[in-house]
Amino acid sequence: MASLTTITDFAALKSADRKISMLTAYDYGLARILDESGVDGILVGDTVGVVVQGHANTLPVTLDQIIYHAEMVGRAVERALVVVDLPFASYQVGIHEAIAAAARVLKETACPAVKLEGGAEQSETIDALVKAGIPVMAHVGLRPQSIHQLGGYRVQRDEQKLLEDAQAAQQAGAFAVVLECIPAAIAQQLTESLEIPTIGIGAGSGCDGQVLVTHDMLGMTEGHVPKFVRPYAGLRESMSQAVQQYCQDVQSGNFPGPEQSYE
Ligand code: KIV
Repeated sequence: MASLTTITDFAALKSADRKISMLTAYDYGLARILDESGVDGILVGDTVGVVVQGHANTLPVTLDQIIYHAEMVGRAVERALVVVDLPFASYQVGIHEAIAAAARVLKETACPAVKLEGGAEQSETIDALVKAGIPVMAHVGLRPQSIHQLGGYRVQRDEQKLLEDAQAAQQAGAFAVVLECIPAAIAQQLTESLEIPTIGIGAGSGCDGQVLVTHDMLGMTEGHVPKFVRPYAGLRESMSQAVQQYCQDVQSGNFPGPEQSYE
């Protein structure tokens, strides 16, 4: 069995100038494919609320739901570092609640790290979680759990705030920080100024690593796909064609054939 990637390995990848690849997964089967294919990290993201549950945003996702998905991913992974999103209102309500929520993730799943959205305003929480022995990935720039406060899914350009947030996260002990939807030049500057790895999504190529929602990069998503996504496959189209062919074959009597039948 391959050995599990740790937060120390993430730090070593930054030191070695080797880019870090991360993708999201919410279930056993997809997590097995990502892990076998060599991704460095898997995020059990609260985007599960959008791409799996069909909500308009990530806010409705509950701690119980994320734990349910993280259990499946944790069972699947033999190599990648799995990071689990703390959902909206599981950590913003107080430091004790944040520790309790993150501890549930580590106790009830085989996943070793959590992610929370925020930098400076969450620095006390990050510090408390790290002191409790819980590895934390921070998330600055566009923070989808604050979508109503931010007024929409927009590129975040306040350089001073981005710098303060990322520095505060590092200072508080975060092992890495996601930079979402920020100009590439600012992301590169942050990456150079931080000791911890930066993982970009819509933040250009100067980050230490990249993360995408797997459903987006495999072309499974319906409707609008953000500019920062490169579709590496068109699975929605392929799956639709396969299902249409199956329906035709059932209707015409072409399926099942002798190969799919028992004597
Ligand atoms: O929930 C998620 O999938 C995320 C990524 C988009 C970074 O936070």
